[in-house]
Order: sequence, then C-alpha cells, then structure tokens
Amino acid sequence: MNEPVYTYRLATTDDAEALQAIYAPYVDTSITFECTCPDVEEFRKRIEERVCLYPYIVCEEDGVPVGYAYASRLFTREAYAWAVELSVYLSNTCRGRGLGRALYDRLLKLLEMQGVRSAHGKVTEPNEKSDKLHLAMGFRLVGVMDNVGFKLGQWRDVAHYEKLLGDFSCAPEPVTPIGELDAEKVAAVLEGRA
Ligand SMILES: CC(C)(COP(=O)(O)OP(=O)(O)OC[C@H]1O[C@@H](n2cnc3c(N)ncnc32)[C@H](O)[C@@H]1OP(=O)(O)O)[C@@H](O)C(=O)NCCC(=O)NCCS
Repeated sequence: MNEPVYTYRLATTDDAEALQAIYAPYVDTSITFECTCPDVEEFRKRIEERVCLYPYIVCEEDGVPVGYAYASRLFTREAYAWAVELSVYLSNTCRGRGLGRALYDRLLKLLEMQGVRSAHGKVTEPNEKSDKLHLAMGFRLVGVMDNVGFKLGQWRDVAHYEKLLGDFSCAPEPVTPIGELDAEKVAAVLEGRA
C-alpha cells in the first residue's frame, strides 16, 4: 500500500462539515471546554469569522481533511492585537504522526509574516500529546491555572503556553490580514517550501 500523502491548505466555509466531524468527538472529553457540540452551520459561521484575519489551515490525507489548526485573538482589548491563541485538532486516527507539528509550524510561520508577536496555547491537563507539541515547538510553560474549569464531573487545570515571535525592539505595525500576504509566500509555507 502507498504511503499517505499529506497536504496543507487554507480552510474555506465548505470545510465546515468535515472539520466539525473532526472536532465533535473532543466535545465529549475535557480537551475542549465547550460542552455542547456546535452544529455544522455554527461551525461554518466560525470558520467565516476566523479566516478574515488569521490563518486557518486544513491538513488533508490523500485529499481528505484529517486535521486543522487556526489562530484567534487571545484577548479582545486593542493593545492585545498582536497576541493570538492557537487551536489544533486531528482526527483520532491521525495523532502522533507529526501532523500537529506540521500544522503548528505552518501556522506560526504565517502568523510571524503577518506581524503577530506572540502565540499562546491553553491545554487542559492531562494532555501529554499537546504538552509535548507545545514544548517541541519552542513554547514555554507560563503557568497552570488550577481548577479553572469544571467538565465531566471534575475540576480541571489548564496549562498556559507562550511563544514569542519576531522583534520587540520597536512599536508594531498593524497585523496584516492573511488575505493581504503575498500569495506565493503563503503557498510556499503551506507546501513546506519556506
Ligand atoms: C495535540 C495534537 C494536535 C498533537 O499533534 P500530533 O500530530 O499528535 O503530535 P506530533 O506527532 O506532531 O508530535 C509533536 C511533538 O510532540 C512529541 N510528542 C507527542 N506526543 C508525545 C508523547 N506522548 N510522548 C512524548 N513525546 C510526544 C513528538 O515527538 C513531537 O516532537 P518532535 O516533533 O520534536 O519529535 C494531537 O495529538 C491532537 O489532535 N490531539 C487531540 C486534540 C488536542 O488535544 N488538541 C490540542 C488542544 S490544546
């Protein structure tokens, strides 16, 4: 049997059904703090809102979506405009094959090209794969928020990871929307050529 081929591209609202199906099983775990699974229409709206400014990347195995990662604003107040929170979900059968690293690597490169200055990950403990992913990608553990959520009958701790991007010696330019980056440079990142 041939080895599967993995490719990466930006998401569109047409991905809603496939990505909702990847996300849905995690709603029954403490990995996400969402307790009711969004339906496909809600997922489509979320994709639509998110793709305007930040990268939203789909990983495909032989042309079929098996994972995704996206960035969103960490906090809404104006001065936080250069800080994002990352989310990443792989289909259950595709974990531990380097796809999380590949998605994060592309996401972080695009965010840096946009002028984003820090990326943050919040990981409900225990989640060894996600802890390892963050540490392997150069994030540092900022701290652990004890008992910050209650899900599935238990109080849950959340680890906060941070990775600084780019230059802090000067005032930042506004973040460039993903759609305004050079299309060839974006393609090079997604195709693993940059
Ligand atoms: C978390 C998740 C995205 C990680 O992606 P992944 O493809 O499974 O992880 P990778 O195979 O890319 O591994 C990333 C790094 O962590 C290391 N790692 C992962 N799991 C590990 C484990 N159990 N023990 C030791 N190292 C581990 C890998 O060696 C790799 O480091 P390297 O590239 O330097 O070798 C994926 O497992 C997933 O979708 N999990 C369910 C959803 C989830 O938890 N999302 C994150 C919410 S915060």
